[in-house]
Amino acid sequence: MDDGFKNQVLERTDIVDLVRSFGVQVRKSGQNYTCLCPFHKEKSPSFSLNPGKGFFHCFGCQASGTQIDFVMRHENMDFLGALHFLARRAGISIPERHNSPQEAAAAQAARSEKQKILELLEDACRFFEGQLRRPEHAGALAYASSRGLDDDALKKFRVGWAPDGFDNILRWADALKHPRELLVKAGLLKLNEKNSVYDLFRARLMFPIWDDEGRVVAFSGRIIIEDKNVGKYINSPESPVFTKSLLLYGFNLARKNMQGEQGALICEGQMDVIACHRAGLSHAVAPLGTALTEEHVRKLRRAAKAATLCFDADPAGLRAAKRSLGLLLAAGLPARVITIPAGKDPDEIIRKQGPEALREAIKNSRDCLDFLAEQLRKEHGDSTTGRAAAGSEAMELLSSIPDPILLSSMLQDIAERLHLDPRALQDGLRNRHAQQRSRERRQQQQAAPAEPSPTLGETQATAPLPSPLAPVQEATPDAESNVELILLQIAVANEDLAHELAEALPAGGLSSNPSGAALNFVLSLVHAGDWAAAAQAALARFKQSPSVMKALAMPEYSASSTPEILRKAASDCLAKRLSLTRDRRARDIMNALKAPGADARTLLAELQQLKAMK
Ligand code: GTP
Ligand code: MN
Repeated sequence: MDDGFKNQVLERTDIVDLVRSFGVQVRKSGQNYTCLCPFHKEKSPSFSLNPGKGFFHCFGCQASGTQIDFVMRHENMDFLGALHFLARRAGISIPERHNSPQEAAAAQAARSEKQKILELLEDACRFFEGQLRRPEHAGALAYASSRGLDDDALKKFRVGWAPDGFDNILRWADALKHPRELLVKAGLLKLNEKNSVYDLFRARLMFPIWDDEGRVVAFSGRIIIEDKNVGKYINSPESPVFTKSLLLYGFNLARKNMQGEQGALICEGQMDVIACHRAGLSHAVAPLGTALTEEHVRKLRRAAKAATLCFDADPAGLRAAKRSLGLLLAAGLPARVITIPAGKDPDEIIRKQGPEALREAIKNSRDCLDFLAEQLRKEHGDSTTGRAAAGSEAMELLSSIPDPILLSSMLQDIAERLHLDPRALQDGLRNRHAQQRSRERRQQQQAAPAEPSPTLGETQATAPLPSPLAPVQEATPDAESNVELILLQIAVANEDLAHELAEALPAGGLSSNPSGAALNFVLSLVHAGDWAAAAQAALARFKQSPSVMKALAMPEYSASSTPEILRKAASDCLAKRLSLTRDRRARDIMNALKAPGADARTLLAELQQLKAMK
């Protein structure tokens, strides 16, 4: 991490302003400022702010730290998230890592296009909000209120109206001189075959979709008169600022309420999220009309320690709940399930039976194994073969639980619930893992043998290195490139590790080979918050390098490897890099010693030190 950048952000962030901006009442008292601690319940203020030092401390609960710590804690963000949040708030641009001025210029252009799209979408959101209040659209407002959206909800969720007709948005944009291409890119206008443009959203109640920082990045529009010929909802297409599989509706609002035991509440649709928040269940989120993805779960895992799934009890909803459960468990998140009587959803429960009914349902959520056993029994039946099939599906769903002790006790538990012999499931799992391992070994044997790594004296390089990748046309990648190629695979496979690698690897320290350039490219995207796009972008950019292509297209390490395997490989690679750097330095010293007039004593001492570090 660039300390200069961090310090600049801290210097430009007044801690009193910051705390006030979260709605906390702060009073001056002597040199310092005090308020009620936002992190624990109290009646008299013991939270003290020191604007000079940029520091807070609570004498009640001992919470303390800088502006960054405050945001991390208050908004439940990770370090980089909080730092970037503060940087944007202070108008400081986030430093990026680039190999060349051309790259820097391209990144700048992409950034300013993104910025323009975001500004346009914010303007459009205000336009839709205004339209909903116009007398001629009273019908839309009436529909909204029939769905339980009162004035507060309309404001909080910024609900709007896209008027009927093909050119309302078009005329609005033209009047404000927003370029039409930008509206097409932002997904507000569509192109027809004749290359002319028209409004995508017509006669629809508009729900803005926010990114994690609350910026409008897309819309979801609902019809208000049932019509079988058109989709009930239309969502904006993906755009430079909107990736569906990454985005959870409501996450920007819910993130800070996901701490503690309750964790995240995952619903099926945005109406449910709004209903939950209105009922005081402000930890609710929903994917946008897609199934829950691994990316969603990764995002949740960073903010929450547990999750509750809230799904419709129809067959589709139950299957979706089962699948989602597998993903949550694989990410190490304990999960519970509430199934709502078929045909209903949280939104309807709140409207028909009141918020208390929904809160009650959530209190009565079921343990995931309870749900899973019942669901598997329902799907596979109670015959011997049915129970065996249920057992093997359970094993499949639970097999990725990272904690081996938890895994084993859950297998035992589900076996009992399915009336199966727990040992059979344990054995099944062991067989599966053995098969996986032998598959991995076969793949490794097919790859070319590693070139011996340079060694220092008699000492062998200590860190075990994952097998190298077979080169296609390039010269055999050297040991350093091999390490970089594996790090590249890990960085695109796992977002958390990618962030850690971006922190651990200085841009200047990578090789000038394609492997180093590709790794640097991916890490700069990660640094800029664009991990999701990194793999595709790197594939496009490094087309001409067979070793990079192979690493990305046929990776040995991928999102399907367990996080533990990836973490182990990453730490092996980092250790290997360190030892290669030491070897290189040792060779340089040996050469330097041969030069006339060399300072042999100092050089030999350093050599000794390098050997000692092995
Ligand atoms: P309401 O009918 O307004 O209560 O919405 P809902 O959230 O209950 O919808 P439903 O359970 O049918 O669907 C869940 C989610 O799937 C919605 O929030 C939408 O994001 C998405 N969805 C539903 N219908 C459509 C559709 O016709 N097209 C698209 N693209 N998405 C849809
Ligand atoms: Mn609904």
